[in-house]
Amino acid sequence: MRANFQHIAPFLSTGDADNMLRIAESFGSFGTYADEGSNEGLGEQLPQRFDAAFHYITAGIDGSGNPDDPGTAIQRTNYFRETYAYGSDVQAAGIESFMEHPAIKQAAQQISGRNIIVPAIVYANILVPGQELAIHTDVPEFRGANRKELPQWLLVTMLHSGLFDQWRIPIVTCVSWFGAARGGAFTFYPDGPEATRESIPATHNSAILLDTDAVFHGVERVVEVQPDLPGIDRETRLHFLGQDQWQLRNGERALAGYGWPDLRYSISWKAYCFSDAAEEALWAEGSDNLTVEFILDRLEAALRERGVLDGARPEPTQFALMMVENFVRFPRAGSGSPADLPPP
Ligand SMILES: [Fe+2]
Repeated sequence: MRANFQHIAPFLSTGDADNMLRIAESFGSFGTYADEGSNEGLGEQLPQRFDAAFHYITAGIDGSGNPDDPGTAIQRTNYFRETYAYGSDVQAAGIESFMEHPAIKQAAQQISGRNIIVPAIVYANILVPGQELAIHTDVPEFRGANRKELPQWLLVTMLHSGLFDQWRIPIVTCVSWFGAARGGAFTFYPDGPEATRESIPATHNSAILLDTDAVFHGVERVVEVQPDLPGIDRETRLHFLGQDQWQLRNGERALAGYGWPDLRYSISWKAYCFSDAAEEALWAEGSDNLTVEFILDRLEAALRERGVLDGARPEPTQFALMMVENFVRFPRAGSGSPADLPPP
């Protein structure tokens, strides 16, 4: 079944769209999106998103193989992110009206089929030339199971297993693009991982709304303006210098300079979606919460039913690898060629 999504262009008024660029400028500098903390006893030796990372390193962005060595893969995908608003905590002045934008909320109602839309977060991503984003699904949330308590790969596995749907909090994501970057199309599998990959250009002042927790998606490579990708690591920051100019720095050391048109800048908005007040209350009050023991037992039982596991439960790292391998079905190489969507 084709996923529900809306491609909106133009998205905001001309002035509001330009203001999104000004907000990034006043933010001043962007850090890389590093891994969050580890989770003891739950495959803590593995990266939080090893599900997507391991697949990318072998399969690349389109499933046909990755010519990069793993070291380059990290630079290529270690993009820049800052949070503009998280609940009532507003980090970027001027983002409040975007967070509560009636048209976005209305579209989210249509996508989710739910009436109550509670905006949760607005964050900005910047990819520099040569960067891309591995195919993945976003980190979902369930009653009692979110990224504060559980590793991200486990939450992703829970969603793809379909075993915890009754506890899931549906989240709709709006990804919007601003600026003049070349390349960096949003690429996704609206008909499922076995079907054709489609792409939407990251055109200034356009947006897509969809369930990114369920639909595999990524970002195609931003057009390179210099032959080598700079040595981006966790300490690297992207600083705004004024007059459309940005600079990539490790501490005091400049790595590269870019103009606004070189950078792919997107803003993501995410909202929880509830059918009614009772469903929202169930989430807010924390009743009917999942426990980690219940989650692992249920996944383990499903692995045994599939004949994948017998004997004792493996040690945590092995168990984590087994769960991701068996429940997360990535798009395969050859599952269709990229097709561009017609304009909306
Ligand atoms: Fe995503």
